Amino acid sequence: MIKPIGHIIAVASLAFFAACERTETALTEDPEAPQQQTEPQQQTEIAPQQEPAIKIEVDTSERQQDTPDARTATTTALDTQVPQTTTIRNSAQLQAPSAPFQVRRCMNMGNALEAPNEGDWGYRITAQDLRSVAAAGFDTVRIPIRWDAHTAHRAPYSIDAPFMARVNTVVRDAQSAGLGVIIDVHHYEDLMARPTREQARFLAIWDQIARNFADAPDTVYFEVLNEPTLQLSNAQVNGLYAKVLPIIRATNPTRKVILGGNSWNSIESLDEVRWPLNANKKDANLVATFHDYGPHAFTHQGAEWSEPVLPLGRRWGGPADMDELADTYQRARDFKAKTGLPIFVGEFGVIDKVPTAERFAWTKIRRKTMEAHGFSWCAWDFSGAFKSYDLSTRRWFPGAQDALFGR
Ligand code: BGC
Repeated sequence: MIKPIGHIIAVASLAFFAACERTETALTEDPEAPQQQTEPQQQTEIAPQQEPAIKIEVDTSERQQDTPDARTATTTALDTQVPQTTTIRNSAQLQAPSAPFQVRRCMNMGNALEAPNEGDWGYRITAQDLRSVAAAGFDTVRIPIRWDAHTAHRAPYSIDAPFMARVNTVVRDAQSAGLGVIIDVHHYEDLMARPTREQARFLAIWDQIARNFADAPDTVYFEVLNEPTLQLSNAQVNGLYAKVLPIIRATNPTRKVILGGNSWNSIESLDEVRWPLNANKKDANLVATFHDYGPHAFTHQGAEWSEPVLPLGRRWGGPADMDELADTYQRARDFKAKTGLPIFVGEFGVIDKVPTAERFAWTKIRRKTMEAHGFSWCAWDFSGAFKSYDLSTRRWFPGAQDALFGR
């Protein structure tokens, strides 16, 4: 039953105002005194590279979105053409990218390694699943990982060896299936709540990840921090990025590093990111990310982790929804034109409480829009609450493959 447009707009408005009430209001620094911390050694040398005439500028503005779940194939080079002259703040020049960003069609393997322990949320990543993902036509998987649950609280903040070994196994299984792999830092709740206190630990985590994957092929990608929010203001996010990038670059001089803004990686916050430069004031191997769950009242209806839980029955496709779609992608296009950075939509999807046909209709339109603009994408997710794959039948849900690969 199609609900009248007025109903859709009313529900959307209610959800919007509800979301506004839940926005990040306290963007101040952690009131707790920082503990004594040992920062990992930072090296600053990077391989010398050629400099094209590109400059980056970053502006400011912010919108908030709702809180996300706290539990729950071909490779074609994109973004090879970079605008000749784009203004960027601090007039720093960028290097030529070492290689184009190769991610094109990606699947999030959610609900596994970002649970407190893999399996806690009912799913463990298997080599068989990774082969199914590759066979369907995806070129890359994004692996959400809750590193901090497996990291010591005292310097040198060592990551548990068995956990690192498990991540290595998953990466190796993905590579054996022919997939690229994005490794992120997911659900780092203590960092969101106490950024100052957690900073050294966060940097040490990245130092260890970077060293561990230093010799990995360039189809392994680093995504610095999933969905910064709460106490992590944009200023703090920028501060963290400026500190973490030299640490990563010390061992991975040209690996693609993916960065997004706060407000859960909203499109609006991308403009707030001050693209960090390394010691040579150059870094051409960065990728901009945002997450697309618009409108939240549709994609997250009934999500138990939203406060309040959004009502079921919200339909999608009215004029206001089309405006929201156009606005989101116009912003993303403008951002790309301004910065020349490749854009990666690192999460998008609809909760499985929405009828399958409706959620894959949304998915197809969003995905085609991304591709029309030359953006890479990563569906949320394989078998979690926004699932594309039915683990019980070992089949893709009807419409999922068409939504993600169809014309
Ligand atoms: C979270 C998931 C959640 C999804 C949609 C992701 O960033 O990690 O747990 O289901 O966003 O809200």
